[in-house]
Amino acid sequence: MEQLQQILDQALKQFAAISDEAELEQVKAKYLGREGSLTVLLKGLGKLSAEERPAAGARINQVKQGIEAALQQRRDALQQNKLAQQLAAESLDVTLPGRGLSTGGLHPVTHTLERIEQLFHSLGFATASGPEIERDFYNFTALNIPENHPARAMHDTFYIDPQHVLRTHTSPVQVHYMETHQPPLKIISPGRVYRVDSDATHSPMFHQVEGLWVDEEVSFANLKGVVQDFLQCFFEQDDLQVRFRPSFFPFTEPSAEIDMSWNGGWLEIGGCGMVHPNVLKHVNIDSEKYLGFAFGLGVERLAMLRYGVNDLRLFYESDLRFLKQFN
Ligand code: DAH
Repeated sequence: MEQLQQILDQALKQFAAISDEAELEQVKAKYLGREGSLTVLLKGLGKLSAEERPAAGARINQVKQGIEAALQQRRDALQQNKLAQQLAAESLDVTLPGRGLSTGGLHPVTHTLERIEQLFHSLGFATASGPEIERDFYNFTALNIPENHPARAMHDTFYIDPQHVLRTHTSPVQVHYMETHQPPLKIISPGRVYRVDSDATHSPMFHQVEGLWVDEEVSFANLKGVVQDFLQCFFEQDDLQVRFRPSFFPFTEPSAEIDMSWNGGWLEIGGCGMVHPNVLKHVNIDSEKYLGFAFGLGVERLAMLRYGVNDLRLFYESDLRFLKQFN
């Protein structure tokens, strides 16, 4: 009897100390398994006298039930613990405010390009495009900039190989377009251009928009009208002043630089001129019958002025604090 009480006490103590379900089942075998201490005692009942047997049997069964009850209790407790832990680990605080949805936006340069296109389309210009990796011929020679011409040095060109460059301007699109289309022609060509240059006002990659209008009667007056009209619409300023300052480009004659009034002074925003007869000759357009004007505008410059951005590099640093302002 004393031994039974010890077994029960020991079992209860052991169960209480166990915090792992598998271990609990192992320890159970020590008492109730085939070789378990209680099982051995039950088997030994036969050796007792007939008078002792019922009381001993009853006591053993009592202890067995006690052990089984304690076991079940411990099992339940461990399972409860496990569940509580799982619930704590997987809990969601449904009262937390959501992170919110934010939508992306167009890059300010893209906004500007779209605005430029839209305005020129309303003036009857179509959009044309050309490759960014350009044959030397299209970037220079066909634009009346022959080999060894000093104007090539001004372009700070990225050469891919002696015959191929990253286009330094959008003007080569003029040549591609005139090779494949007959006048009358009226196009703009927005796109990326590349130069070996980098500071607050220069980026190795930037955007230009080229304009070209070729027909039987196109004059410098038309050029001035189109450019002025465009700039006044773009900046939404009817009194915006535009100045054409005599200049030189190999592919136009006469040539001019385009300045616009800004903060009481003048600011250069592009170049233009009447298409040089040599350029028309390169694409087999009769320069006695047709003439045209061309212009090239700096897109980032227009975007900086419109949005009041003072450092060109902001456009290319992907800083969301900057970009979000244009959403
Ligand atoms: N291609 C010139 C440049 O990048 C800009 C330019 C000047 C374009 C005069 C023209 C033009 O079409 O007529 O510096």
